[in-house]
Amino acid sequence: MKKIQIINGPNLNLLGKREPAVYGNTSFEAYLNELRRLYSQCEIAYFQSNIEGELIDKIHEVGFEFDGIILNAGAYTHTSIALHDAIKAVKTPVIEVHISNVHARESFRHISFLSPACKGVILGFGMDSYRLAVEAFL
Ligand code: DQA
Repeated sequence: MKKIQIINGPNLNLLGKREPAVYGNTSFEAYLNELRRLYSQCEIAYFQSNIEGELIDKIHEVGFEFDGIILNAGAYTHTSIALHDAIKAVKTPVIEVHISNVHARESFRHISFLSPACKGVILGFGMDSYRLAVEAFL
């Protein structure tokens, strides 16, 4: 059974409540239930943290064991060389995802420190970005 780890970064614990015009009305927990139902042939583990170092620790923890990591690092995408290095340090391929189309938003969101270290990037499809990343790993 393939093992996929979803990692969500800062403020993504507030999905469903946070800026619904941008991020929608669904909580990540509700979406995750649906994702696990759709892809019962694989294990989908989930971790969220608002703390950069905890995201790095999780990448280290699963990055030699899991088949894929789906990472939405939130705003750390646009700032974190440490997350770039963590992605490069592990064996498991990482797909960077974003719910919104960051290129259609403020210019500070146009830069990703993570994309060069990732296998691919999926963005702008709402919550469905995560499902598309699962598809890509399968
Ligand atoms: C986000 C886009 C980021 O720019 C923002 O800081 C987030 C969410 C997205 O999923 O669209 O927190 O990663």
